[in-house]
Amino acid sequence: MINLKEFNFNANAKPFVKWAGGKNGLINYLMPFIPKKFNSYFEPFVGGGALFFYLKNHKILNSKKIYLNDKNLELINAYKQIKINPNELLEELEILKKNHNKEYFYKIRNLDRNLDFYSLSVVFRAARFIYLNKTCFNGLCRYNAKGEFNTPMGSYKNPKIYDKELIFSVHKTLKNVSITNKDFEIVSLKTKKEDFIYFDPPYFPLNKTSSFVNYIDNFSANEQIRLYELFKMLDYEGVKVLQSNSNTDFIKELYKDFEIIEVGSKRAINCKGDKRGKITELIIKGNYE
Ligand SMILES: C[S@@+](CC[C@H](N)C(=O)[O-])C[C@H]1O[C@@H](n2cnc3c(N)ncnc32)[C@H](O)[C@@H]1O
Repeated sequence: MINLKEFNFNANAKPFVKWAGGKNGLINYLMPFIPKKFNSYFEPFVGGGALFFYLKNHKILNSKKIYLNDKNLELINAYKQIKINPNELLEELEILKKNHNKEYFYKIRNLDRNLDFYSLSVVFRAARFIYLNKTCFNGLCRYNAKGEFNTPMGSYKNPKIYDKELIFSVHKTLKNVSITNKDFEIVSLKTKKEDFIYFDPPYFPLNKTSSFVNYIDNFSANEQIRLYELFKMLDYEGVKVLQSNSNTDFIKELYKDFEIIEVGSKRAINCKGDKRGKITELIIKGNYE
């Protein structure tokens, strides 16, 4: 058992998983649009949580109620176990790390093909999720139609499966944070006037073959419209709403009554090296000062 008090928490918390669509590359562009004053903070599509950790490290969320949410059950279970069970989680991670090889990777990955997957302990499932994220190809969280994790093993020589200090920093950062696994709309409807909500949905694909559509759920045009209706309503009610999305005609047309800012961002996850680099995204801002 590790004594939390012995640990140096100075290491800044940051995303503990690689996440497709992670917002590290967009933070500098988002910062000017973070409202100066707000009450509670909401991220209904938290993913790796790049903006949340950044705001937290910069003390922008001090003394605020924070609500993080994502539809990915295994991801949210990992957040919850870091929050409540960091020591046991680290013990499980150490076992996975010691045993790591190709055969073991596929054995662990394929556990979700078994009917009793959800009877495995929540701590083990969280460790499995982090282990797969750090050892699979490009950290891609990809599922087949049956909901089974199907990313192959990556070719890392010596993958860093976990970082104890980071797990403890994240643990500390998540204290008093509400973490849920619901549809974005349910969580967003908890906002009140003067709260701030940042939406980072799965991006609308740039084209039909776009590698962006690599999420568990294909966030369809209808889902984008459902999000737009919610965005508009919350804005009308005085909630401070901010969104990032892809620079496509569809999204621009949908949000044409809002302030739209076109920005460049570095996308870290892209299987083809030649597609890495600058691509243009949109920041969509509600009517707050
Ligand atoms: C672009 S990613 C968020 C990236 C995140 N901002 C980051 O920095 O890593 C979109 C997220 O939306 C989640 N998601 C997809 N459909 C959802 C839904 N209906 N409700 C809530 N979350 C959803 C996905 O699991 C994914 O984590």
